[in-house]
Amino acid sequence: MTSLLVTNIGELTTNGPQGTVQHASLIVDEGRVAWIGGESHQPPTDARLDVEGRAVIPGFVDSHAHLVFAGSRAVEFAARMAGEPYTGGGIRTTVAATRAAPDQTLRANLARLVAEAHRQGTTTIEIKSGYGLTVEDEARSLRIAGEFSTETTYLGAHVVPDGTDADAYLRLVCGEMLAAARPYAKWVDVFCERGAFDADQAREVLAAGVSTGLAPRIHANQLGEGDGVQLAVEMQAASADHCTHLSTKDVDALADSATVATLLPGAEFSTRSPYPDARALLDAGATVALATDCNPGSSYTTSMPFCIALAVREMRMTPAEALWAATAGGARALRRDDIGHLSVGARADLTVLDAPSFLHLAYRPGVPLVHTVLRNGEPICTP
Ligand code: NIG
Ligand code: FE
Repeated sequence: MTSLLVTNIGELTTNGPQGTVQHASLIVDEGRVAWIGGESHQPPTDARLDVEGRAVIPGFVDSHAHLVFAGSRAVEFAARMAGEPYTGGGIRTTVAATRAAPDQTLRANLARLVAEAHRQGTTTIEIKSGYGLTVEDEARSLRIAGEFSTETTYLGAHVVPDGTDADAYLRLVCGEMLAAARPYAKWVDVFCERGAFDADQAREVLAAGVSTGLAPRIHANQLGEGDGVQLAVEMQAASADHCTHLSTKDVDALADSATVATLLPGAEFSTRSPYPDARALLDAGATVALATDCNPGSSYTTSMPFCIALAVREMRMTPAEALWAATAGGARALRRDDIGHLSVGARADLTVLDAPSFLHLAYRPGVPLVHTVLRNGEPICTP
């Protein structure tokens, strides 16, 4: 691998000790950030990328996505926009389509979505199972997910599949299905919600996963207040995701814990639900991440810039808070210290924006602003 000088950066957001640097240059060596400085005294390198005054940010870390599936739920979306409520029941439609799909269909759909995410500046994406819900289909989903990301999450406890007894399914999720999923997964997740799994069931799922070496994260408080957030904190989960309906006790519990509150405004947008109270979380001192929740039912977007725009406009996050949450916050939610920032030594995952400042991510909503994306110092998206 050759060293690369990225030069003529109009505004560099590092999320690190150097903060935001105007008129910056950065050197990538062996896939890592090796040097950050101004435009004079640049050490010699093998190659050079002149970004012509554009802004550079850390690559987005999308810490919550459900990308292994087949089929579409556009008709369900249209019905919702005409007034139908979202209950999560449509998950079973996607389960049927996913089970029926051959491996190459799932792989091709996943490859398309990951490429789409890259084009929007994402350099790390977490991928969950949860649309297989049989021993074979969950293991297969995770095996295919592992071809695209090291951040793979076992979500056998998404819903109880049709025609299955809830207790018997829970035993399967915590036993044979977990054993089959384990070789391909890093995380264990559960949909803790009325209509899915209650807190006792969710605790059992997470504990079973933890006992095999998986680390816990949880879908919590999406459709209503409940015990999900408290359980996340009790289990020292890396992240409590959604957090749409929080009590003051939940906000305080998150603020006093190492559990990240991962907000998924694409889901509120696509289910026409109230947005989470990001301000209460931030003001209380909780760590907040933003992610897409990309899935065919409740949030069919791979766009982190869209989520940033929603967070700023609808959730009263500042543009700087939203950018941090979509990069460093996501890294915290995945317990990674090598990504989400551009300090010396970090992985050289960076996104060049066709804009003079990161502010344009929210200021120019819906405009494709990503110019070039490097991961490990290598281009994964070029103009
Ligand atoms: O995060 N809430 C559970 N899972 C997904 C929705 C899945 C679906 O509707 O297919 C979510 O929103
Ligand atoms: Fe989700």
